[in-house]
Order: sequence, then structure tokens, then C-alpha cells
Amino acid sequence: MKFDTLAVHAGAEVDRETGAVAPPIHLSTTFRHGPAGELVDELEYQRDDHPTQRRLQAALAALEGGERALAFASGMAAVAAVLDTLQCGQRWLLADDCYAGTRTFAAEVLSERGVETVTVDLADLDAVRAASTGGVALLWAESPSNPRIRISDIAELARIAHAHGALLVCDNTFATPVLQKPLQLGADIVMHSTTKYFGGHSDVLGGALVFARNDDFAERIAQRRLLGGAVLSPFSAWLTLRGCRSLPARMRVHCANAARVAEFLDTHPEVEVVHYPGLPAHPGHALAKQQMSGFGGMLSIQLRGGREAALRVASKLKLFINATSLGGCESLVEHRASVEGTHSTSPQNLLRFSIGLEDPEDLIADLQQALAA
Ligand SMILES: Cc1ncc(COP(=O)(O)O)c(C=O)c1O
Repeated sequence: MKFDTLAVHAGAEVDRETGAVAPPIHLSTTFRHGPAGELVDELEYQRDDHPTQRRLQAALAALEGGERALAFASGMAAVAAVLDTLQCGQRWLLADDCYAGTRTFAAEVLSERGVETVTVDLADLDAVRAASTGGVALLWAESPSNPRIRISDIAELARIAHAHGALLVCDNTFATPVLQKPLQLGADIVMHSTTKYFGGHSDVLGGALVFARNDDFAERIAQRRLLGGAVLSPFSAWLTLRGCRSLPARMRVHCANAARVAEFLDTHPEVEVVHYPGLPAHPGHALAKQQMSGFGGMLSIQLRGGREAALRVASKLKLFINATSLGGCESLVEHRASVEGTHSTSPQNLLRFSIGLEDPEDLIADLQQALAA
């Protein structure tokens, strides 16, 4: 089955009980069991699993090509579920350009526990090899990365990780499985903030892990989700499943619009550099062409006039909304250095854009007036 067909149908089978074409939503927190607690209909309690989540997890596993998927209450709950498995004395490698929440979790939670985080430029494979020689439990990749939109070689990172007995986890939030399939490239786990492109409408928080193998590690994380309780509600699962079905169609528009906007920004005299892998001058362009089927809807720019210019442009934009998050229908802009907190490494002159589904001519006109002196 082709990917677009899978996206429409995975987890969305016609309801056997009623014939409903749209997937049903089940709100029940509890499911009948036998007198000695024996399962009758497979399910027991909503914190463990529920029918709407089962459908969503089936869809996520099918779309990423994994054996098992677990849905979480947020992307950060999914991040924490993996990182919580690291023990005192263990080391792990994290992309030096990555989502600020992951970096903050490492700096504020894992450090207290005696887990050593090594940040490294994952585009520099020699640096990754050198950093791995001390022994690593985990390699955490993010490609394209947030907010500098860097591209790293997932297949090579998997080889390096496996040579050291480590797992490769790939945050695939920016690319989505429409554009990139890390498990096929050798990653062991894919992580998503489904809040972004999967939800697609800026109205549902969620996260997911998709495992290449349904092994003991996946089961251990499922147990921790049950005990930690960071689970996805039926309504959130239902909205996210609805998002899966239109994901490929939406991604095509996000990509086409972002390419147009990036080309415009690339020629603007106020813009020092555009970070978009679809531009031939982007250092990861050739690699992105090879491991992705499109360049995505996220881009960032660095302005010649420093922080002041970045804030001026952000304040003058009318159609782009100043807001955090990404992957919705509406275009967003954000000065990441202002919002990422104490562990931010974002340049002061950087603005990140989530390119939405509007007409790109309107987006370009808005940028043109905001960039005008
Ligand atoms: C790349 C990336 N990973 C993880 C997260 C965390 O996800 P959530 O906000 O759903 O907890 C985000 C959120 O912005 C993100 O952009």
C-alpha cells in the first residue's frame, strides 16, 4: 500500500459495531474484567490503553514502519520516557542544535541524577565518533534540527551508535514520516511531538515513540508510561488520529510554501542567512535530498541587524503570528532566544518560521513589509 493510502486508512478501519466510517471515540476509563481481574475484552483501564489510542498507535507504527508505537500526553512526556531510562554514570550524546526542552531536561533533570550529557554537532561525524569512544548508552538526533534546521546523516549515526552498543533515537517532529523514515535508515526509536504536524491544527498536545522492534526496551517504556501516567486522553488521541489522515496532503503544501518563502528570503538584503535545506547553498542540502523526500515546512533566518532587527521584524509581521510551536495551518514566527530560557543556544539575530497553509504570495508580502527599513 502506498504511503498516502496508509495515512488515510491506518487505524481508521470502519467501526465493526456500528459501521461508522469516521473512527469512534471511547471515553470509558475502565473496561469490564472477570471476577479475578482476568481480561475479557483485552483492555482494562484507560491509563494502560484505550480503543482510540490503540487506533492512533497502529497508525503511527504503520506510518513510521515500526513494530510498536506508544502515544504520550505530550512530546516532552515521550522525551522523558526515553531519557528516564538512563542510569547514574551513563553518558549520552545530544545534538548541539536541538529542541530547547530536551536540552533543558538534560541540564536540569539528568544532571541531578549523575547522567552525563555530551552535546555534539551531529553533522560532524568525526566529532560524533570521537565523543562516542568514552562509551555511550544513547545517541539523540534531531534532523532537521530546531532552530538551525541542520541535517545529520541518520544512517551513519545509526552505524556509529550500534558500533558502541548504543540506541539511536531520532526526533522526527520537523520531518514527519511523510518526508523521512528514520527507522528505515537504521534508527531504533523515532520520537514525535504530535502536537505539531500530526495534530496539524494547533489544537491538540501529544507525543509518541515508535520502536523499530517490539522488544523488552519498548515494553519497559510502556510500563513506565502506565506507572508515570503521562498518557494521551481519548479526545486528544482522536484528534491526532484525524490529523494522521490528512498529514501527507498538508505536508506537501507546507513544503511548497516554505520553498517559496525561503527563496524570497534568500535574496533579501536584510537577511544574512536562510536556514532551509531546500536551498542549494544549505550545508545539508545534498544529504537532505538523499534521506528526505521533501525539505519541510520549517525555516529560520539570521538578520544582519542583530537582535534588534530580529525583534523589529517579528513585531512588524501581521499575518505571521508571534507564537511558539509549529506545524499548524497558520504561519508562526518566533525569536527563539527570547523564549528558550537559560539553556538557549539560539543566536540573538535568529527568527524561526513555521510556514503554514496560506497562499505563499500573502506570506511573502507580509515578510516584505516587515523587512522594509
Ligand atoms: C522538535 C521538538 N521536539 C519535541 C518537542 C516537545 O513537544 P511538546 O511541546 O509536545 O511537549 C517540541 C516542541 O516544540 C519540538 O519542537
